Amino acid sequence: MLPHAIAPYLQEYRGVLHVADHSVMDLRERFGSNVFVFSESQITDNVRSLQRAYQRHYPRFRIMYASKACSNLEVLRHIVSLECGLDANSGGELFKARLIGASPERIVYNGTSKSVDEVTQGVIAGIRAFNVDSISELKRIGDIAHRLGLTANVMPRVIPGVLGGTVAGFETGHVGSKFGMPFEDLPEVVRVLRDYPCLKFRGFHCHVGSQVVRAEAFASAMRTVVAEMVRFGRETGFMADTMNMGGGFPIPLVPEGTMPVHRDGSPLPEDVQALMRGTLSIPDVAAETAAAWNAAGADPADFDVFIEPGRSVIGTAGILLSTIEARKTRPDGVDWLLTDCGFNTMPETLWYDWYYHIVSGNRASEPADTAFRVGGPLCDTGDSQHDETGRGRLPNVRWLPKNTGIGDCLVVVGTGAYCIEQQSNYNGRPRAAAVMVRTNGVVEWIARRETYEDLVARDFGSGVAR
Ligand SMILES: Cc1ncc(COP(=O)(O)O)c(C=O)c1O
Repeated sequence: MLPHAIAPYLQEYRGVLHVADHSVMDLRERFGSNVFVFSESQITDNVRSLQRAYQRHYPRFRIMYASKACSNLEVLRHIVSLECGLDANSGGELFKARLIGASPERIVYNGTSKSVDEVTQGVIAGIRAFNVDSISELKRIGDIAHRLGLTANVMPRVIPGVLGGTVAGFETGHVGSKFGMPFEDLPEVVRVLRDYPCLKFRGFHCHVGSQVVRAEAFASAMRTVVAEMVRFGRETGFMADTMNMGGGFPIPLVPEGTMPVHRDGSPLPEDVQALMRGTLSIPDVAAETAAAWNAAGADPADFDVFIEPGRSVIGTAGILLSTIEARKTRPDGVDWLLTDCGFNTMPETLWYDWYYHIVSGNRASEPADTAFRVGGPLCDTGDSQHDETGRGRLPNVRWLPKNTGIGDCLVVVGTGAYCIEQQSNYNGRPRAAAVMVRTNGVVEWIARRETYEDLVARDFGSGVAR
């Protein structure tokens, strides 16, 4: 089954998967393994469909792409060229946004623990908004802006008090998480705003979570936050001109109409299946959030309205090419396939038991009817692509063509978000390269492969660090 819903640009030709005219075997030969392959046209399509859905209801709409999902400079450049702004989550991401020439008017800055240096950078740059996570941060921004004689745009991040139906580590919209401020903090926000005329209140920010599959969560968050914004303006005189509704739209993790099962054919839990299907109608969500504005007596046309998607912009636009380096036979009849691609390359497999769909690159026309265990090269039992530790969120085998073996190319789809960004050098493994297949079909490097010298470049005594 081809992964059309996850990576529509992947086509099978003579049994081999292709991106545009490039066979994955040629790409792997030319750029090495592991290599991330991004489709520029898929990024464009993802951005355009979000813009189409939201612009219908929000005339002053902008995507502030969550660069934490993938902040490769070429990826950022392309996204910014599509009239998007950027959401930075650190001084480093702010630096990257500035480096590619993003206008400060199109940069917002998230994060729970912004340092003095980071806040200073944002204030000097004159960014569109600090999404302010706490009262103490609001005061810190006020102190710094005052000292610099500058004005800082601020948008308190409020807690909408909803659950998105995602993995616990991605639920950020409830009061038990570390993010944002409860509405009870708003009187103190008002006092701080009054104390610091250098703080310019622009509106509110909220965010439900990531891979949010409960459509109602977005509308419910907006009903609460827009009503609060209206009340806040009426009672305090601080009138919002902007609303940031956050990100979190899901992507499909499995091909349409399929669902991985355990070796004995038994299904995964229903909540896990919902997460894997990742289906949500963005046009419906946009319409339902807009209805929440109307219900609160606010007209979206009077506001700059932002969303901050990451995964839904870049997740389906990237695949990862890997190589099977070993195959071993087990007496229970389920063979192991050992690849060169571990959780150092896709850490969320370990942290969240995240499911990345795997297909054969060079046996694409053969049925994926044989159960395998699939492991990476790392020295951990948990370095596997199936349920190896009994937590029950992943299938206990992976299904691939029967003759899959050494040298084959396994294509891990839906790896555009939160992979390249989270890679590590664990076990002395250089981080993977990345290439982009441009809209005109040309393939270009966008990140070189790390070398062994890179591995030691920061260590004193290596002869490289000085
Ligand atoms: C504040 C904020 N905005 C946006 C995002 C992007 O989320 P996603 O990549 O799921 O769209 C995140 C990630 O969780 C976030 O914390």
